[in-house]
Amino acid sequence: MKKASLILDKDYAIGQIDPRMYGSFIEHLGRAVYGGIYEPDHPTADENGFREDVIAKVRELNIPIVRYPGGNFVSGFNWEDSIGPRAQRPRRLDLAWGTTETNEVGLHEFVDWARKANTDVMYAVNLGTRGPDAARNVVEYANHKSGSYWSDLRAKNGAKDPFGIKLWCLGNEMDGPWQMCHKTAYEYGRVANEAAKMMKWVDPSIQVVACGSAAHDMPTYGAWEYEMLMECYENVDYVSLHRYYGNPTGDTPGFLARSMDLDDFIREVVAICDAVGGRKHAKKKLNLSFDEWNVWYHSSQQDKEILKADKWGRALPLLEDIYNFEDALLAGAILITFLKNADRVKVACLAQLVNVIAPIMTRNGGGVWAQTIFYPMMHASRYGRGTALRPIVTSPVYDCKDYERVPLVDAAATLGDDGSLTVFAINRSMDEDIELDFDLRAFGDLKAQEHIVLHHDDVKAVNTEANPDNVVPAPGTPVKIDGGKASVVLPALSWNVMKFKK
Ligand code: AHR
Repeated sequence: MKKASLILDKDYAIGQIDPRMYGSFIEHLGRAVYGGIYEPDHPTADENGFREDVIAKVRELNIPIVRYPGGNFVSGFNWEDSIGPRAQRPRRLDLAWGTTETNEVGLHEFVDWARKANTDVMYAVNLGTRGPDAARNVVEYANHKSGSYWSDLRAKNGAKDPFGIKLWCLGNEMDGPWQMCHKTAYEYGRVANEAAKMMKWVDPSIQVVACGSAAHDMPTYGAWEYEMLMECYENVDYVSLHRYYGNPTGDTPGFLARSMDLDDFIREVVAICDAVGGRKHAKKKLNLSFDEWNVWYHSSQQDKEILKADKWGRALPLLEDIYNFEDALLAGAILITFLKNADRVKVACLAQLVNVIAPIMTRNGGGVWAQTIFYPMMHASRYGRGTALRPIVTSPVYDCKDYERVPLVDAAATLGDDGSLTVFAINRSMDEDIELDFDLRAFGDLKAQEHIVLHHDDVKAVNTEANPDNVVPAPGTPVKIDGGKASVVLPALSWNVMKFKK
């Protein structure tokens, strides 16, 4: 059997894991809101129309923060449309997705939903068709105690206490020509700077995220980050990164290597942030908010047909990717990559959460089920807390179309505040189990607690409402441990979680 090894030491820390690394995203898009989290006629709907069965699934993921309300949608959104009596809220054309937004669910409703789902809101302001004035007003509405026009209106609309939203996105993907009121890096940097300044004057306790590139392969990538940060570095806290991967040609080894691209992307954006910081002689360091990541390609053709048939429809089933087993493996590899960069990646959002390129699916009037990608996210979010440790991995490698020397085994490790150790590992080999040997001598007397495996013989296997347990985690072979040395078998093509405790 092929072998790989992993050396860990509790003193070799990458950094404290920010819980917001396990965030997600709900956009007013498709059936994410209407038919996803909100369906007043559904048998499980609560008094506000939110599906309790969906909330229960969201809670299983243990998500600390949810980005809202977009996405591309936000660049044409008037936040004022989403407050006040529902009957008076306008129906608007959403130019981002070619649909109609009814504003039945708005700011108050989403904050209520988030509380019930045990999560916080990360709110995006519109820096496309709107600007700094609308941005500072929504901060005042959401976070100012009372005694001003917007805060008193919030109270009049039913929320006496401020919402206390702490993390704000300064627009969305403003480098993308598809964005409403797309900007150059300089234009965006200036607007982001003024918006951030005014939003923080209203509430100095907030943090703000500047838009980095919409993808690693954008033509303006790199220059965009540098130029816009030259305009706003002092007033922002994070730079965003977005990245989606696909496997339209069925090249599984190449697809599973895409986390190498993600790692390059992260390291390059960190370097650019630090270059601007250096250029400005700044003491402050910017961190990263990887606020959109996932696999996205399965639904592309279907979406064209849906929109052809029903342009300007409401809650159309858009971006409903059905995820297979290999997608879950890549999601696991991405989470491992975030953990290995935990010193700078402080926020990350699996895009999205329900129905729209999502780990959770629903049927209108019907059930809720977990897609394959649900499981690595759930494991990382539940067990990957505390300190990220620097893993020294030695693994056999392979070459694929875009990368050479891709390790068959990739791993990350976290040390919990209670001294428990968790190792996450993938085996990218298409056909060979690999024995992973651990050197854990620095941890003293550890006991192997659990080995969880996600594996399916068919990389294209999916979960459906009728067959929701087709791709689900199962116990793996026991971890052998003896005096600080341990070993475990990682099945070919598998996501693994190994838990150790004192
Ligand atoms: O998540 C789907 C879309 O992907 C978002 O609206 C946009 O920000 C990105 O291009």
